[in-house]
Amino acid sequence: MTDAVADRTLEAQALAKHYAVSTGYFKPKATVRALDGVSFTLAAGRTLAVVGESGCGKSTLARQLVLIEAPSAGRLLLDGDDVTLHAGATPDRRLRQRIQMVFQNPYASLNPRKKIGGALEEPLVINTPMPAPDRRERARSMMARVGLRPEQLDRYPHMFSGGQRQRIAIARALMLEPEFVVLDEPVSALDVSIQAQVLNLLMDLQQETRVGYVFISHNLAVVELIADDVMVMYLGKSVERAPKPLLFSRPRHPYTRALLASTPRIDAKARRARLMLAGELPSPLAPPPGCAFHRRCPHAIERCKVEVPLLEDSGDGQLVACHRWREIG
Ligand SMILES: Nc1ncnc2c1ncn2[C@@H]1O[C@H](COP(=O)(O)OP(=O)(O)O)[C@@H](O)[C@H]1O
Ligand SMILES: [Mg+2]
Repeated sequence: MTDAVADRTLEAQALAKHYAVSTGYFKPKATVRALDGVSFTLAAGRTLAVVGESGCGKSTLARQLVLIEAPSAGRLLLDGDDVTLHAGATPDRRLRQRIQMVFQNPYASLNPRKKIGGALEEPLVINTPMPAPDRRERARSMMARVGLRPEQLDRYPHMFSGGQRQRIAIARALMLEPEFVVLDEPVSALDVSIQAQVLNLLMDLQQETRVGYVFISHNLAVVELIADDVMVMYLGKSVERAPKPLLFSRPRHPYTRALLASTPRIDAKARRARLMLAGELPSPLAPPPGCAFHRRCPHAIERCKVEVPLLEDSGDGQLVACHRWREIG
């Protein structure tokens, strides 16, 4: 690995995205704080997993990272340069190439009327002056790298299985040799037996290319295989962030603990006292005051109902946003 690659970073600084939504005729618009100040730094060749229940803001974060949307606040830095997309500005094409995205549903992300070869070459057609024979050659070699046969370039998306289609979507994301790829629930639509194959492919490709991944999932079990670091989100905020081994062996936040307890684990020793997640995710339109998790938290005290806990370092680079992490041990 060259130093230039080693120095690559994707950094989010207090990224926020608020949407104005209508709550009915004659009513003023309300604000949804879909993403409410999330920070992290991801280095080349590494994987940050982002985990949380549906509706906690994962896809919103993804859209800010790949410059599809302009955040309401905060900054995005790529290799130290501020690349934050500002409202009304046209995203820089060359910049966008450096951060690619893979979506959950490969049916939706591949045009059914377009042959796979065309889909793979499209990013090169749009963004580079590469001649057609070279594009085709790059597409052929990328097919082989994701475990498909180059002859299959002449087929249409419907002729592939879900797992194969996701391999194609990954190949497409890598055609422009991005520094970072944001994967939004990339295996959630696949059979469990296929999930591991796609995760292994992603890890192999990372070894070869040193690409950095932001890997989004609602499932901690999926993340355990692929993550280097894990960030747990709740209602638009990061409530815990830690190196994977620490997060799984010593979760500090009651929400992380509840998520882990409700995740089937392979390692029986890792199964801890059952602490089920009671209640539902509150509406982000009316988040609870204080700690957003307090109504579902078995450890909540008065302070939790009024004071928002900040993300603080609890040691060894494990960050936690909980007033009570010390007491609950
Ligand atoms: N364009 C939008 N307009 C209004 N609300 C939105 C928009 N996109 C997302 N939201 C809301 O923001 C919250 C987070 O959504 P999302 O990022 O899709 O969560 P996740 O991917 O974790 O399921 C949800 O309450 C969702 O309804
Ligand atoms: Mg989502």
